Parts: sequence; structure tokens; C-alpha cells
Amino acid sequence: MYEAVRSRRAVRGFTDRQVPREVLERVLSAAAWSPSGSNLQPWRIYVLTGGPLVELKKRAGKRVAARDPWDERQYEMYPPNLKSPYRERRSAFGQERYSALGITHEDWEARQRAAAANWDCFGAPAALFCYIDRDMGRPQWADLGMYLQTVMLLLRAEGLHSCPQMAWSVYRKTVAEIVSPPDELILFCGMSIGFEDVTEKYVRTGRAPLAETVTFVEG
Ligand SMILES: Cc1cc2nc3c(=O)[nH]c(=O)nc-3n(C[C@H](O)[C@H](O)[C@H](O)COP(=O)(O)O)c2cc1C
Repeated sequence: MYEAVRSRRAVRGFTDRQVPREVLERVLSAAAWSPSGSNLQPWRIYVLTGGPLVELKKRAGKRVAARDPWDERQYEMYPPNLKSPYRERRSAFGQERYSALGITHEDWEARQRAAAANWDCFGAPAALFCYIDRDMGRPQWADLGMYLQTVMLLLRAEGLHSCPQMAWSVYRKTVAEIVSPPDELILFCGMSIGFEDVTEKYVRTGRAPLAETVTFVEG
């Protein structure tokens, strides 16, 4: 369990080795045991592999190339004017992410190119798309997080890696063309799934010291 938690990271380079359908079914069947308030199980998942995923990547890639405006948002990814310490953590992440690729902060074009890999699922042969009913509130969105983390840890147990991607929400209409979700659903995020391309460079993201995020109140 500790090994799954420690070895999970947002992997941004996958090989084209296929992920068997039965593995995905095993992972998603087990992840269904994730907790949720009053057992609402508010996650609605679409799994894409093969032709449909190729088609999605092709359509999204065309939008990227055409510099097509992003679809209007259904939720805000981050609060406006992130305050401390979140602002610093976000810029530290950007630094780590792009320095691993040898990209400087000033090189906007290169950063855009690296970000565009999101819409190719970083080469992954499988992806899931996580939707939630628009009537659901913050507690149910938190349930999605627990569910998705469970999926990511189970993928580690299968030797697979993943990258959760809010980036897909900006091209949600293109995703909808492929998966045809009912109108009442909002796309929270995608998740690329596959075997890690170990040649892809990365810097392991850091974490705040425990005392910054945890307070023990002891008797
Ligand atoms: C809900 C969610 C959405 C994310 N969206 C993206 C994304 O669109 N693109 C991306 O490259 N990484 C994305 N990430 C990955 C985070 O950047 C990553 O989890 C964080 O920097 C910590 O690094 P680690 O997961 O490698 O430990 C997302 C993570 C979460 C939990």
C-alpha cells in the first residue's frame, strides 16, 4: 500500500503497449468500493481505448493546432489570485515540471508545446473521463477525488501509471463528441493510463513539510 502511494506520480510519457480490457475492468470494479457520502457514488466514468481514443486525440490535436479557443468553463480550476502558500507551491510545480524538460520560464512556446501533450494523453493507449452530475455539490466532488485516487493506486498494483488531467475540461465538447454523455453531466477531468515511458524526463514533485498541512491536537 505504501509502495503504491509512493510510486504513484503524474506520469507524462507512456509507451504504446496496450492496456488489457480485463485489467481496466478489475481496477474499476475494485475502485467502485471507494467511499462516498451516503454512498451516492457520484462518479460517472467513460473509458476510451483504441479507435475512439485515437479519434479524440486527433480532434483535440486539430483544435490545439488551430489555437481554437477553449470551451467555456463549467467549473473554475483554481481560485483567481491564488494566495500564499498555494501560489508559491504552484510556481514551484511549474518550475519542476518545465526544468525537467529543459524549458525556461520565458520560453512560452516550449511550455505550450509541453502542455499540448495533455491532449495526446502523453501517448497513453487508454484514458478515462470522469463526469459528475451538475446538481452535485462540493462533498460529491470530493468523493470523485477519493475515487480517482483509488483508481490510480490500483493501477500501480497492476504495474500501470496514470496522469489525472483537468486539462481535458477545456476541450470538453470534443470529449463529448466521442463519449456522448447525457446533458446533466459535467466533465471534471480525464486520466491517461498506460505503461510508463521510462525515457521521459521528470523531476519528482516535492511536498510541504508535514507541519505545514497537519496539526496534531494532543491530549
Ligand atoms: C484533479 C487533478 C488534475 C490534474 N490535471 C493535470 C493536467 O491537466 N495536466 C497535468 O500534466 N497534470 C495534472 N495533474 C497532476 C498534478 O500536476 C500532480 O498531481 C501534482 O503536480 C503532484 O505531482 P505528482 O502527482 O507527480 O506527485 C492533475 C492532478 C489532479 C489531482
